[in-house]
Amino acid sequence: MKIAVIQGPNLNMLGAREQHIYGPMTLDQIHEQMTGSASQNGIELEFFQSNLEGEIVDRIQECMGTIDAILINPAAYSHTSIAITDALNAVSLPVVEVHISNIYKREEFRQKSITASASTGVITGFGPFGYHMGLIALTQILNELQSSKAAKEVQAKAE
Ligand code: DQA
Repeated sequence: MKIAVIQGPNLNMLGAREQHIYGPMTLDQIHEQMTGSASQNGIELEFFQSNLEGEIVDRIQECMGTIDAILINPAAYSHTSIAITDALNAVSLPVVEVHISNIYKREEFRQKSITASASTGVITGFGPFGYHMGLIALTQILNELQSSKAAKEVQAKAE
């Protein structure tokens, strides 16, 4: 199973950026930890970070037919981007949105995520551990999808 991990603007600055909010870990360190736990569960991760909305839309579109699920932190674009929301809806894949900080505890403009409407679920406020939680959630969703597909195949054969 393949999961695309898509990171939005300024997340390349983690470790240096507002440590009191986002903590000391760099994006590379977070990705390294994720790779470790994913490989134990037979999951392959493809990482992508961009500061540009259009590049994120392109990456989401490329997931169609090549990737099983998307783990995304759209960062500031969560609060503004109809284009990313549309792209997530267009590819019809399981999506988990992650935020390192608790967006509901912050400025009013961060308390609404437009992109969240295109996700299966949202994890917010658990620091970098939220990415691991997202992986666990997507693994569960993909396993459930696989079992229901297998059950349908057995049913179809029996009919
Ligand atoms: C963030 C929250 C956003 O409001 C902010 O713009 C980010 C990071 C988070 O992970 O907590 O860049 O998505």
